[in-house]
Amino acid sequence: MSGIKIAERLSRIEPTASSIASQKAREMKAAGIDVISLSVGEPDFPTPEHVIDAAYEAAKRGETRYTNAAGTPEMKQAVIDKFKRENGLEYAMDEVMVGSGGKQLLFDALVSTVEEGDEVIVPAPYWISYIDHVKFAGGTPVVVTGHAENGFKLTPEQLEAAITPNTRWLVLNSPSNPSGAVYERDELKGLADVLLRHPQVAIFADEIYEHIVFDDLEFCSIAAVEPRLKDRTVTMNGASKVYSMTGWRIGYCGGPAPLLKEMTKLQQQITGSNSSVSQAAALAALSGPQDFVPKNTQSFQDRRDLVVSMLNQATGLKCSVPKGAFYVFPECGALIGKKTPEGKVIENDTDLVMYFLESHGVACVQGAAYGMSPYFRISYAAAEDELRAACERIQRACAALR
Ligand SMILES: Cc1ncc(COP(=O)(O)O)c(C=O)c1O
Repeated sequence: MSGIKIAERLSRIEPTASSIASQKAREMKAAGIDVISLSVGEPDFPTPEHVIDAAYEAAKRGETRYTNAAGTPEMKQAVIDKFKRENGLEYAMDEVMVGSGGKQLLFDALVSTVEEGDEVIVPAPYWISYIDHVKFAGGTPVVVTGHAENGFKLTPEQLEAAITPNTRWLVLNSPSNPSGAVYERDELKGLADVLLRHPQVAIFADEIYEHIVFDDLEFCSIAAVEPRLKDRTVTMNGASKVYSMTGWRIGYCGGPAPLLKEMTKLQQQITGSNSSVSQAAALAALSGPQDFVPKNTQSFQDRRDLVVSMLNQATGLKCSVPKGAFYVFPECGALIGKKTPEGKVIENDTDLVMYFLESHGVACVQGAAYGMSPYFRISYAAAEDELRAACERIQRACAALR
C-alpha cells in the first residue's frame, strides 16, 4: 500500500458482492475452467439496433460535447412523456433529470438529503447499493426484513413500526432485486396510508425493472397510486434493464424541483454531464418502438418458469415464484450444516455459493449480500441451455451434500 491515507468514509462501503462473484467467475474462465456465471444483473439481449444507430447518428451530427448536467432538453422531454404515458405521472422540465445510471440518482438523492443520525428504511432482501449509499451519506440504514410467505414485501404494519422522527426516506424497489417481488396497487395504497401520516418521510421509488412484470400483473407507481405523496417521492427508472443498455449508463427520475436542483448541482460537480451519445441513444429507446419489450418479458417469464421448476427439484432448495425482474431467490436452509464430498461443512449461504462455484462451476450470489440468509440469488438473464446446464449442476451439487 502506498503512503496515501484513505478517508474514513470509504470504510463505510464495500465492493458489491455481485461484481466480486462475476470477477471470480471471469478469472476461473480465463484459467480454462468451465463456469456458468449467473451472478450479474443485466439482460443478455443486445441493445436494439435503432438505439445503436441513434447514438452513431448523434455522434456524426456533432453531439459529442458536454450537455446540461440534468440532461439534454430532448431527453428530459422524452422522460416527461414516458412518465405521463406509462405511469400517469405529470412532471415539469425542472422536475425530471437524467443521471449516469439510476445508481447515480440514488446517490445524488441520498447525499443531498441524509445527515448524521438520519434513518433510511430499506426493506430486505435489498439491492446491495442502498445500504452502502446510505452509509456513505452518513445515515443509518434501518433494515426491515420481509417474510417469504408475503413474497418478501414490506407490510404497512412493518413500515409503521420502523418509522421514527429521524426517518428521512423509505426506499421502495418494485419489481425487486433480488426477490422479484412486485407491489400491487392495494399494497402500495396500504404503505401510502402509513406514509401520509409521517410527512418527514420521503420515498425513493426504484422502478428500474418496471417492464419486467409477469403473469399479467399490473405495474403501479406509488406516486400515481397516492398523488398526495408525489411531492415527496423520487421516481427512478432507467434504460439499463428494459432496453438492455447497462453499459450506456443512463438513468432518470422525476421528483420535487427543489431536490432535483440540488441533485443537479452535485452532478455538475461530479460528472459534469451525462454522456451525450448515450442520451441520444436513450432518447431513441424511450421514444421509439416498444414492441420488443413484451417479447423480452415473455422470454424472461419462460426462463423464470424453467429455473424455478428445476431449482425446486434440487434437494434442500425451496424457490418461490417471483413476479418480476430477472432473479430467483431460493431458500437453502436445509443445506446449511451439511458436508461437501471433500469434507467441508457448509456453514452459511456464502459457503454454499462458494461450493457451487468451486466444485460445480456455477456462479451466483449469497443471500447475505442482500441482507437475507440462508438464501442465494440467481440472475436468469442467460440463454435457456445455459440455465438448464447451470440448474443441473446445482441439482448435482445439492445432491452431493451429506
Ligand atoms: C434495483 C436496482 N436499482 C438500480 C439499479 C441501477 O441500474 P443502473 O445504474 O444501471 O441504471 C440496479 C442495477 O442492478 C438495480 O438492480
